[in-house]
Amino acid sequence: MSDLLLLARERGAIDLALGTPGHPEPTTDIIEAAHEAMRRGHNQYDHPSGDRLLRERIAAMQRPPADPETELTVTVGATEALCVALLSTVDPGDEVVLLDPGYEGFRAAVALSGAIPRFVPLHAPDWRFDPAELATAFTSRTRAVLLNSPGNPTGRVLTRQELDWIAELAERWDATVICDEVYSTFVFDGRELTSITEVPGLAERSIVVGSLSKSYAISGWRLGFLRADPVRTEALRRVHEVTTLGAPAPLQAAAGLQVLSANLKAAAEEMQHRRDQTVEIFTRMGMKITPAEGGCFLFADISPLTGGQIDSGAFTHELLNKVGILVVPAGPCFDDPARGDQYVRIAFNRRAELLNEVERRMLGARAVDK
Ligand SMILES: Cc1ncc(COP(=O)(O)O)c(C=O)c1O
Repeated sequence: MSDLLLLARERGAIDLALGTPGHPEPTTDIIEAAHEAMRRGHNQYDHPSGDRLLRERIAAMQRPPADPETELTVTVGATEALCVALLSTVDPGDEVVLLDPGYEGFRAAVALSGAIPRFVPLHAPDWRFDPAELATAFTSRTRAVLLNSPGNPTGRVLTRQELDWIAELAERWDATVICDEVYSTFVFDGRELTSITEVPGLAERSIVVGSLSKSYAISGWRLGFLRADPVRTEALRRVHEVTTLGAPAPLQAAAGLQVLSANLKAAAEEMQHRRDQTVEIFTRMGMKITPAEGGCFLFADISPLTGGQIDSGAFTHELLNKVGILVVPAGPCFDDPARGDQYVRIAFNRRAELLNEVERRMLGARAVDK
């Protein structure tokens, strides 16, 4: 993917590949607050568990609210949080259950922890698992389950029924359930996200991984968090201190002052419009797309266009060459990369002008094809 990205940048292509937010945009208030925090002297180490105000505010936004003293830790993005959650939960040789396809970063984090991934297939077109297949993934060596809802790349929001099935197995095999909820503010079509902390059987054994990267469009600030019970939090904080000694102090101070004032509901409604526009553009082109239930990605089936003649890697190159638009071939999202030959991932958390330009280019390409 990095080669493709370089090529795309050289050619000035439109990047619909990375999850880097173009929508929403960071508010001027949050940027001012960062300047002000530095001027006020927030330039040294802060408490390793995180700026007090930021912890309080994030804790209050959780469902149910968390105790900022004993249950909430600010991390260097969800990326650090994921690694810390795994390193503090599993030993090398333990097994971790994962849904497949899933976020590429999960496999790398599981590998870093030395654990063995056990994949449960999600089935197209709606990317649900079969409860019987889920059950066979659990063994006496299962130490953790790693979930993501809303999901990257599938856009799935796990239902209460699916979470209940997972809860039953996690209880039976005494596994910790880690759920990456970094896209929690972007849930569409009137759906409600059920956090694992709201499900009996999961809540008691849960670690929630969250982030400010996407909701507040500050992915470069590297602010994420971990929510867990006090016993797990103690272990998480020990690993967190060893890995980073805390997230950037002035940025935490600024975020603490600003997180409550952002209009997350309006940003989510606007994100849904952008999803609809992107579905429309690429469906018109001939892709088969189940609209994302949440998050910021579409997982598109290209087989109606390619007839299986070329794989998603070749298709992505072709799209880049013909119209200057970059999407992601889905191979790396799957345990068996060949399952991704038929799919590409398309990010829609982009500025309106950019999506309009995508539309213009795609319509132009169709006119030329005719
Ligand atoms: C599912 C998922 N988790 C975590 C991350 C990384 O989040 P952060 O920027 O907070 O490290 C991403 C980024 O795209 C993601 O898609």
